[in-house]
Amino acid sequence: MDPERQAFLDTLVPYCPNKKEIWHPLDIEYFKEYPAPVMENAQRMHYTNLNSTITFFGPMLYYFARAIGAEHILEIGMAEGYTSFYLANAAKDNGTRYGMAGNMYYGVEILGKALDIKEQMDKLELPNDIRVMSSADITPETFDNVTFDIIFQDGNHERDYVVKEVETLYPQLKGEGKGFLICHDVYGPAEDGVHEIINDPRYNWEYIRICEIYGIAILRKMDGYKEGKRWTN
Ligand SMILES: C[S@@+](CC[C@H](N)C(=O)[O-])C[C@H]1O[C@@H](n2cnc3c(N)ncnc32)[C@H](O)[C@@H]1O
Repeated sequence: MDPERQAFLDTLVPYCPNKKEIWHPLDIEYFKEYPAPVMENAQRMHYTNLNSTITFFGPMLYYFARAIGAEHILEIGMAEGYTSFYLANAAKDNGTRYGMAGNMYYGVEILGKALDIKEQMDKLELPNDIRVMSSADITPETFDNVTFDIIFQDGNHERDYVVKEVETLYPQLKGEGKGFLICHDVYGPAEDGVHEIINDPRYNWEYIRICEIYGIAILRKMDGYKEGKRWTN
């Protein structure tokens, strides 16, 4: 590697409790190929390799969650914990910024490695409630009395899973335009399910989809929304 670039990378001291995992070889490879100092700095803290197919989504989700002041964030499908890290930090940092107590990142993952992610989050004092379970088993009692600002749907993208997750969790998503369902792979495997929930008359959304990187959709729950709103009310 170009020594100047290496020297720059050496200055990026990660906020990571586990020294073994300080260097993320895939990150270095990625940035060597596609230099992007702003992103390198934004990405230097996470405890896992960046998800190089959806490089931007971690920071994008962080800033989105910060922009809306999200308190309770649910992620379905955590994999290596890449986006999980950003979402959990957003919940924590919103709590600090707005003096809110009880902010929480909730994660649901079928694989036991989610418990390793939990261990990392605990070390970093990131507020988390991580369950090793299938999203198919979520009931209204699973997250009793929790109302979510964001649900990030990134688990099993088959139609039945996507539809069932939304059927169960729609009542627990904030209304009045304040709750967001973010779906990945909507121009890929999640297309059928997400198309169905967008058009289901039981739900009231405004939404946007982008096609790039398998597609992402942001659906905003509009139940109880009053037109004529200004940002101050
Ligand atoms: C695309 S990956 C998640 C990537 C992660 N959100 C990120 O961007 O870093 C999908 C994950 O969903 C998990 N998964 C699959 N089916 C699931 C289900 N029914 N419930 C919960 N998690 C599931 C898989 O084990 C896998 O880790």
